[in-house]
Amino acid sequence: MKARYSWYTILFLAFSSMTVLFTNCAGSHPDTIIDPNASSAEVESNMEVVTEFSGKLSASFQYVSTDGKAWGYALDSQNKTKALKVIFYAGGPIGTGTYAGEIVAKESGVGPNAGHYFNFKVPPELANGQYQKLWAYGHEAKPEYLIKPSPVTFVSYNQKAEDYYNQNIAPFVNSQCVRCHTWTYQSLMYGPLLNPLPVSTGTATSNRFMRKMNGQDNHNGGAFCNSANDGACALIQNWWRAEFQ
Ligand code: HEC
Repeated sequence: MKARYSWYTILFLAFSSMTVLFTNCAGSHPDTIIDPNASSAEVESNMEVVTEFSGKLSASFQYVSTDGKAWGYALDSQNKTKALKVIFYAGGPIGTGTYAGEIVAKESGVGPNAGHYFNFKVPPELANGQYQKLWAYGHEAKPEYLIKPSPVTFVSYNQKAEDYYNQNIAPFVNSQCVRCHTWTYQSLMYGPLLNPLPVSTGTATSNRFMRKMNGQDNHNGGAFCNSANDGACALIQNWWRAEFQ
């Protein structure tokens, strides 16, 4: 017991010091962990879809991300070797809402529900920067098969100005930031540019990307413009407007 305890201590110390070293430059940015572009086809299993549903639904509708992906898991707890269909309704439950699409919940993942996750891209008309509600059902769209905690309230944003980014922001980011960061259009847009959300208090000048660049927020990599209207910061304002206005 004692020997095992000290091993844990050593491992803990090793990890802690690694964290300290890495925080120095690369930081622990979500951009290096989450890839919103990751293709779901790569992680899907080839499980067959449940045809004879037992009615014993084991499911959870976890959240909808700002890039419009509905996440959760769903399975027939009496038949875990097959996959369950998940059906979505927007604006109201079945009966009053609008059919928003469906997907088979068969993505890998971790834990007891591995192989039964879903990652559903919501229709673009719902990713319009306004609050929306989505209801999810397992196997069939019937009230008794509602996946809790439906409805999930969310705000998602379509990508509108990737061309503007590529022409005006990417050259700056790719020359000034790569030493420490791996920023992409996706990770900046669905990270600091959307923080705080435009539907809340976010503006062209108060977003985190801007604040890190003009020195309003302390930035380990330094400031890159003197004010929100100067150089690259003026371009960041334009990019924000092109995406959200
Ligand atoms: C010398 C290394 C270095 C350079 C160069 C650098 N950064 Fe950073 N950056 C960091 C570190 C470390 C952090 C985390 C601590 C902090 O916020 O200062 C950070 C944080 C950030 C954040 C906040 C992250 C978040 O999750 O909200 C943004 C945005 C950012 N950097 C953008 C940039 C951009 C854009 C560039 C290039 C124009 C750049 N940085 C250049 C080191 C750097």
